[in-house]
Amino acid sequence: MKAAPRLEVQLGPLKLKNPIITASGTFGYGTEFLPFVDLSRLGGICVKGLSLSPRKGNAPPRTFETPAGMINAIGLANVGVEEFVRSKLPALRPYGTAIIANVFGETVEEYAEVARIASTGEGLAALEINISCPNTERGGMVFGCDPDGTRRVVSAVRKVTSLPLIVKLTPNVTDIVSIARVAVDAGADILSLVNTFLGIAVDVSRRRLVLANGVGGVSGPAIKPQALYLVHRVCRELQVPVIGMGGIMNVSDALEFMLVGARAIQIGTANFIDPASSVKILDGLLQALDHLGIEDVNEMVGALKTDGPSQDFST
Ligand SMILES: Cc1cc2nc3c(=O)[nH]c(=O)nc-3n(C[C@H](O)[C@H](O)[C@H](O)COP(=O)(O)O)c2cc1C
Repeated sequence: MKAAPRLEVQLGPLKLKNPIITASGTFGYGTEFLPFVDLSRLGGICVKGLSLSPRKGNAPPRTFETPAGMINAIGLANVGVEEFVRSKLPALRPYGTAIIANVFGETVEEYAEVARIASTGEGLAALEINISCPNTERGGMVFGCDPDGTRRVVSAVRKVTSLPLIVKLTPNVTDIVSIARVAVDAGADILSLVNTFLGIAVDVSRRRLVLANGVGGVSGPAIKPQALYLVHRVCRELQVPVIGMGGIMNVSDALEFMLVGARAIQIGTANFIDPASSVKILDGLLQALDHLGIEDVNEMVGALKTDGPSQDFST
């Protein structure tokens, strides 16, 4: 009998049993999905963004369905990093899946402190820093939209943890490659991209913005071409391992991200449509590789053919 395709991937210091990770904020703290998903099958689980203190998040409405996607302004509601280490992390440990803590802060010091506390959690596989947060000390300028903000956050976190460090980039910048480079120079082992794109929804009958917060983040299939483009650009320009995401709904989407260079992928909005999406995509990946006669998923990474039509990115 033919052996099943090999799925293990290595991202710098982080080894995953397969390239499928659930995305932060779309999969709770993992255990909520136990009725739908055998968590032990996943390559990784990236938990809801963690802050120093617990947060209630924004007032409702805070999510809204858009054509081919959704817009959210949850406001980073979470139990706080200490509670995560105390109760959520131990509940996930038995599944043998890489647990990734997504962390954020409103100041550089807060990022470092959350990262330090998260790193004390036994069995954590990696930290993912969400740099799409406003810097309250600099008039709300988003850390990840500014090279200096990115450098300061990443180097502060790098100093307090020896865990593999993933830096999650925002797509809401003019030149993502320059921010990516700063993140790597400051100590990122791995980059993940993209976070949500800024957007709004308008309620015509009320003549008001739909979300209580006004602005939100757009995700889902609507953002896939833009996300793929940004992942492709970063993978072409930098040697660092990349985790790709943005609108991945099925195995074809997942393979597209891998072909442009992502070594692993995250599944986000798809979890709201079908809570078992992640394992269905994993099953689809095994079938697709088998069908294509590919023995190791790593053969797909960066395997996009670059001959033929124009590869020029200047449009
Ligand atoms: C409801 C919701 C909550 C999210 N919360 C977080 C979060 O706490 N931290 C973070 O880094 N990203 C967060 N994200 C962004 C996702 O992890 C992901 O980057 C984005 O949604 C794009 O992937 P997708 O199109 O597959 O959803 C959130 C997304 C959604 C839809």
